[in-house]
Amino acid sequence: MTDAASDIPSGKTSSFGFRDVDAKEKVQMVRGVFDSVASRYDLMNDLMSGGVHRLWKDAAAAKLNPRPGETILDVAGGTGDMAQRYAKMARAAQARRGEPGASNPDASVIVLDYNAEMIMAGVQKGGEPEMSWSVGDAMALPLPDTSVDAYSISFGIRNVADIPQALGEARRVLKPGGRFLCLEFSRPTASAIRKAYDAWSFHAIPPIGGLIAGDRDSYQYLVESIRRFPDQKTFKSMIEAAGFSGVAVTNLSGGVAAIHHGWAI
Ligand SMILES: C[S@@+](CC[C@H](N)C(=O)[O-])C[C@H]1O[C@@H](n2cnc3c(N)ncnc32)[C@H](O)[C@@H]1O
Repeated sequence: MTDAASDIPSGKTSSFGFRDVDAKEKVQMVRGVFDSVASRYDLMNDLMSGGVHRLWKDAAAAKLNPRPGETILDVAGGTGDMAQRYAKMARAAQARRGEPGASNPDASVIVLDYNAEMIMAGVQKGGEPEMSWSVGDAMALPLPDTSVDAYSISFGIRNVADIPQALGEARRVLKPGGRFLCLEFSRPTASAIRKAYDAWSFHAIPPIGGLIAGDRDSYQYLVESIRRFPDQKTFKSMIEAAGFSGVAVTNLSGGVAAIHHGWAI
């Protein structure tokens, strides 16, 4: 796997939860978090969100609109939740077009994650025939320029040590006209939602993480990392600065999560 951490300039800092740490160090720290939680990751997502993360992922997959014959890259793909949706949706669209064949080809969905433990948990869960798995870094994608039709990253970008670098890589690998989509926790738009969400995040999630995944600290990091992530407007500007066009935001559950999507033109 390409080690993008070695390309991060010395002295650059990045947030690790509420702390600022050396960006190179963050890469190893985040790896440790997901090594630790990998085997209970899917169960924890359901417990933390009451299953709502599935609806957010459905909405994001529908927005990406996977089609037969496309190469779709799901970065920080973890256990393959998004990729499974893309593969099934592209296959359903293929079936609507008629017999699969040269003029109606299969999609290819690549799950890329820098954490082999998460990939292994996904492989054990089982995938779809269109899916392939790859260990790699969002900041140094092991793919040629203009090689994918759609790029997605779901609940991954806030963990990346150098977000502009990862967005630049997304822009590089997308074909002209390719789609970019990011699903991430964001800022609730109403203060009542914000208060309830804060109470749940800080008082319930770390103890549940301690009980179920045996790792309270990792879930404390995840909660803090959500608060440190830029709000909808700021993140939209970052995507535009990476060279994407037509960037738009769709809030989910009152802004608890948001989909940012745009085009590589
Ligand atoms: C919260 S999980 C999200 C997994 C999956 N996308 C989902 O929505 O369920 C975050 C994932 O990002 C991965 N990750 C963090 N930094 C990464 C990087 N620089 N490159 C690739 N994957 C990264 C972690 O290993 C982890 O699997």
